[in-house]
Amino acid sequence: MLLTSRPAARSTAPPAARAGAVLELRGAAFGYRRRPVLSGVDLTVQPGEVLAVRGPNGAGKSTLVRGLLGSSEVLAGEVRLFGEPRARFRDWQRVGYVPQRSTVVGSVPVTVRELVSSGRLSRVGPWRRFGEADHCAVDCALEGVGLAGFDRRPVAELSGGQQRRALVARALAGDPELLVLDEPTAGVDAGNQRVLAATLAGLAATGTTVVVVVHEVGPLAPVVTRTVAVGRTAGDEGC
Ligand SMILES: Nc1ncnc2c1ncn2[C@@H]1O[C@H](COP(=O)(O)OP(=O)(O)OP(=O)(O)O)[C@@H](O)[C@H]1O
Ligand SMILES: [Mg+2]
Repeated sequence: MLLTSRPAARSTAPPAARAGAVLELRGAAFGYRRRPVLSGVDLTVQPGEVLAVRGPNGAGKSTLVRGLLGSSEVLAGEVRLFGEPRARFRDWQRVGYVPQRSTVVGSVPVTVRELVSSGRLSRVGPWRRFGEADHCAVDCALEGVGLAGFDRRPVAELSGGQQRRALVARALAGDPELLVLDEPTAGVDAGNQRVLAATLAGLAATGTTVVVVVHEVGPLAPVVTRTVAVGRTAGDEGC
């Protein structure tokens, strides 16, 4: 599979070079049970970039982002997170992830606030109590996805799109330096996509790096600094 890229129409230079690359992939191949789905991936993502990953169903977008996080296999090449080879990377509190599918969330008997607070635990540490800053982070995360006021509601009683937004809020609550979102806008109405876009813009402005899988860039277009296409050979520049 080929990975091609192009800058977004309204490309802004990332506040890069301040630190090293957040992600570096060189000749990387990803797959399952030793069978590659995607190979020859070369990609460097700098701090503050908002990278959109596009491509048709089955092209390997989820396999790519799961490979960054260790839930698909790296079968060849090199994958580095924050300069560290992925196999040695341990600082997972720096990374937030919202998977494409989560079947468990609707069946867990917790409130929205409890779910979102669980995303903060890695920042709180085992011996500290939840402090004011932690409660604020949860409030901000809820606002960032348009769920302020839903915090006492059982997650199981939310609609599918609301549950999806609650999962995004859980990732936001951990204040990640790298946020990986696999189709966060699927099933989310246009108004709440715009709320999410504004939140991502705010994060990127403070240097958070975002990798977001989308079918249509849509309301995220003003925020996206670069687009890569998985499994396409025409219409995009090579990277
Ligand atoms: N856990 C798995 N084990 C084996 N093969 C898998 C697994 N997950 C995905 N695949 C295969 O990898 C290929 C790419 O799937 P992937 O989910 O990465 O595509 P995608 O681009 O994210 O598609 P979509 O737009 O539908 O989400 C598909 O052929 C799929 O069947
Ligand atoms: Mg997918």
